Amino acid sequence: MHFKQAIAAVAIAASAAVCAGAAASEPSNLGERYASTCASCHGANGVPLGGAVPGLAGQSSEYIINAMAEFKTGKRQATIMHQIAKGYSDRQIELLAAYFAAQKQ
Ligand code: HEC
Repeated sequence: MHFKQAIAAVAIAASAAVCAGAAASEPSNLGERYASTCASCHGANGVPLGGAVPGLAGQSSEYIINAMAEFKTGKRQATIMHQIAKGYSDRQIELLAAYFAAQKQ
């Protein structure tokens, strides 16, 4: 093997190891991180800003998971949430729901 090929092989092996590590251990504040993308409408930590957007703080996680599923399928009518919900996997929604359920209203 030429030197350059050897370097490339080592780099590929190293990046594969990093990816495997990330998949194995999920950061504990992942739900909070995802929730920051909801804050502009639902308020910081899901505490309602007033107006038309419902608060999420203290809602049960079942309620949030169910609402997101219904937005995804279109069962529940929405102005915006049907589009937002489609961008999140089941696991991401679980983490978001657990985060908001743990926030004080
Ligand atoms: C652009 C503004 C906006 C963003 C960003 C947003 N939402 Fe919403 N959300 C709304 C509005 C408006 C509604 C009312 C339903 C509708 O018209 O879409 C709503 C409703 C909901 C509901 C139903 C609550 C209830 O009691 O009826 C849930 C659950 C929800 N959003 C979760 C989320 C989550 C989780 C995120 C972040 C991943 C998020 N939303 C990001 C605007 C937003």
